[in-house]
Amino acid sequence: MRVHVADHPLITHKLTVLRDENTPSPVFRALTEELVTLLAYEATRGVRVEEVEVKTPVTTTTGLAISQPRPLVVPILRAGLGMLEGMVKLLPTAEVGFLGMVRNEETLEPTTYAERLPDDLSDRQCFVLDPMLATGGSLGAAIDFLFQRGAVDVTAICLLAAPEGIAALEKATEGRDVTIVLGAMDERLDENGYIVPGLGDAGDRLYGLV
Ligand code: PRP
Ligand code: URA
Repeated sequence: MRVHVADHPLITHKLTVLRDENTPSPVFRALTEELVTLLAYEATRGVRVEEVEVKTPVTTTTGLAISQPRPLVVPILRAGLGMLEGMVKLLPTAEVGFLGMVRNEETLEPTTYAERLPDDLSDRQCFVLDPMLATGGSLGAAIDFLFQRGAVDVTAICLLAAPEGIAALEKATEGRDVTIVLGAMDERLDENGYIVPGLGDAGDRLYGLV
């Protein structure tokens, strides 16, 4: 598993505003989108492309086009939905599938409550969106799901992660082609499984308490 942690002052600046408990939902949503677009630039570095000929007004030359089958973007509901627009801004031809997962706040175990994905992901590159990688349980289950359907490689974009979650995911994805692109690696998990310093509950901050 490859882990790439962003190192850019604009990303850290935007994350700092997201972390602030006084940042209201509309600003939180706008910044989440912007951050994902910036992280998507790194996350799509390995997107499969093929050479194509293009006729300019001056001559004919060779360029690149994104290969078929098109990449699949998978936001993990609910909080991952807040990342979707920022991702498809950069990858407008991608298809989008959905996974709904919720973590039990007592046991920290994830359950899947919704799934809308192609049955066959053979030969597909998948990009998973989930802002928070805490214990890694939710992302691990999502990645496993995609490989079971035949995905060739999976790249996840997360805003924040805890080292404990990265270590757990490392074990869970052994032998698989997995890349994690992070806005920042935080310090640790607290006794409730929350990322410290973190930004709180990403779903609640995007959409309110449910
Ligand atoms: C949050 C977050 C991740 C998960 C991370 O979702 O968006 O999916 O928790 O925790 P983990 O790494 O310990 O599994 P949550 O279950 O709160 O659902 P929500 O997106 O609907 O708020
Ligand atoms: N889910 C969140 O939304 N925030 C955390 O800190 C951990 C899990």
